[in-house]
Amino acid sequence: MRIAIINGPNLNLLGKRETNVYGNMSFESFLDELKKKFLQIEFTYYQSNIEGELVNEIQRAGLDADGIVLNPAAYTHTSVAIGDAVAAIKSPVVEVHISNVHAREDFRKLSHISAKAAGSIFGLGLKGYELAVDYLLSLKKTG
Ligand code: DQA
Repeated sequence: MRIAIINGPNLNLLGKRETNVYGNMSFESFLDELKKKFLQIEFTYYQSNIEGELVNEIQRAGLDADGIVLNPAAYTHTSVAIGDAVAAIKSPVVEVHISNVHAREDFRKLSHISAKAAGSIFGLGLKGYELAVDYLLSLKKTG
């Protein structure tokens, strides 16, 4: 089974950025742990700070992966293009946010992704990515 993890802008700074909100762990360290937990899954990881590059990667992964875990970061709240890309592909997409976007500023309550995603997880820290993988794995098992 192939799962693509796609992270949006500023998530390359995880572990260094607003650690009170996003925690101390880099995504690379987290990904190492995730890979050990799910040895049967082939992961690809992509991060970009550029909207169009994220659209390209969603389209690419949509043809290749059995499921996508997507954290579009700030583009969640602004990007019709990323929402359209999620709607355009067949692979199921789980939207993940590390922080509880509904407990923060009002502009973070709008997501252009949620309505197009299989489901959304927010506020559970990096654990949200693991739960998303669990869900995508269960889809594959039930066929
Ligand atoms: C985020 C929440 C967004 O509002 C924010 O712009 C991010 C990260 C999260 O994972 O909590 O960059 O997607």
